Amino acid sequence: MQRDCPRILLLMTPTTYRATDFLRAGAAAGVEIVVGTNRAQTLAGLAPDHNLTLPFDDPAAAEALVLAYADRCPVRAVVGVDDEAVLPAARLAAALGVPHNTVESVAMTRSKILMRECIAGAGLSGPPFLASCRMPDPGRVGDEIGFPCVVKPAALSGSRGVIRVDRADDLEAVWQRVSRILETAHREERQGLEDDRLLLERFMPGEEVSLDALLQEGRLRPLALFDKPDPMDGPAFAETIFIVPSRQPRLVQNAILDAAGAAAAALGLNHGPIHAEFRIHEGEVHLLEVAARTIGGLCSRALRFAAGTSLEEIVLRHACGLTLPVLARENQASGVFMLPVPRPGTLTGIKGLNEARRVDGIEEVVLTIPLGDEVVPLPEESRILGFLFARGATPAAVEASLRAAEIFLKVEIQPPTP
Ligand SMILES: Nc1ncnc2c1ncn2[C@@H]1O[C@H](COP(=O)(O)OP(=O)(O)OP(=O)(O)O)[C@@H](O)[C@H]1O
Ligand SMILES: [Mg+2]
Repeated sequence: MQRDCPRILLLMTPTTYRATDFLRAGAAAGVEIVVGTNRAQTLAGLAPDHNLTLPFDDPAAAEALVLAYADRCPVRAVVGVDDEAVLPAARLAAALGVPHNTVESVAMTRSKILMRECIAGAGLSGPPFLASCRMPDPGRVGDEIGFPCVVKPAALSGSRGVIRVDRADDLEAVWQRVSRILETAHREERQGLEDDRLLLERFMPGEEVSLDALLQEGRLRPLALFDKPDPMDGPAFAETIFIVPSRQPRLVQNAILDAAGAAAAALGLNHGPIHAEFRIHEGEVHLLEVAARTIGGLCSRALRFAAGTSLEEIVLRHACGLTLPVLARENQASGVFMLPVPRPGTLTGIKGLNEARRVDGIEEVVLTIPLGDEVVPLPEESRILGFLFARGATPAAVEASLRAAEIFLKVEIQPPTP
């Protein structure tokens, strides 16, 4: 049974965007998926006995539950889907004795501070930084880091709590704002947020790209290099457009792959997916960060590999040692527009969907926040209103389709009552 249909424990948070795509991929790969979440939930399409509730913040209890489960139902691999799940996944894989990155390496990716220390220690290029529980003296920041700089919490994601500071006089207000965002996050979720320090690093100008790759016994296999053609200059950093293939020159692309491989090696990552972000300034490649997971949101839907294989299927197949397809993306260009929340209030409508869907090149428009929900923009919260997907002959054509479609969308938000 195990040989015919390997079983994978997929760890995710209940709020993940990624469940549907991973479950579909499991079906396509012929893999039995058991989902472990940190709060009780039953995902549509999964039998209740395929849902485990695991306390991500209590590793010993989670381990006992999974070992007992695996005694009855052998588990071939553990895959962490979201940032909050990758560390519990590494711990549970270690407990089960199935292949995975070491717990130490994944722990480093979960703290932007530990990651910076490791990357700098290995002599790789990244911004100057300092980490502190209290606001550092603005004069010291000016001397050691320089303005503009960026303040961010150690362990949030989706650009939540990441704010640019232009002048020494603004540092205190931004520091307090980021501290409040971290406190709120602490109340919502404990796991992975044990580090109360904030990270302050030099603002790196330049174009931003992200790389998804697979590590096979430490060897980096690139899967997709996305350009992010919207300038991300702050003060908050909403990620909007992602386009493949990258239009960066070949030399720069090679430098990105080298930097990603070197960063993974420095961190000790050698197994499974990574998602790495870089800034390119005057031809130089600077690492922003590396995560031991695939790209977030629904963005992976922009990717199709040989015979229509999805990114998730590649990850699941690799995790349980099944044959991989050729790891080459389709020939078409492809892209996604993540719609940020523009202002706080109650979401009452999004008009222009039909017009947006009719734009040449647009393949899908998916809304992800129900009408009636309270929404808060970045940097306080990082929910995405929806995703537009396009394909075309060239990256420029895809970008034009996405921009043209987005113009049709009129987001209606009723302001909060004072
Ligand atoms: N030092 C920096 N210089 C310039 N821009 C930065 C810097 N640090 C962060 N940013 C911007 O802020 C964005 C979010 O920062 P970062 O990736 O560190 O946080 P995150 O919350 O993990 O993001 P995500 O989960 O979306 O990857 C980056 O994609 C980048 O645009
Ligand atoms: Mg990031």
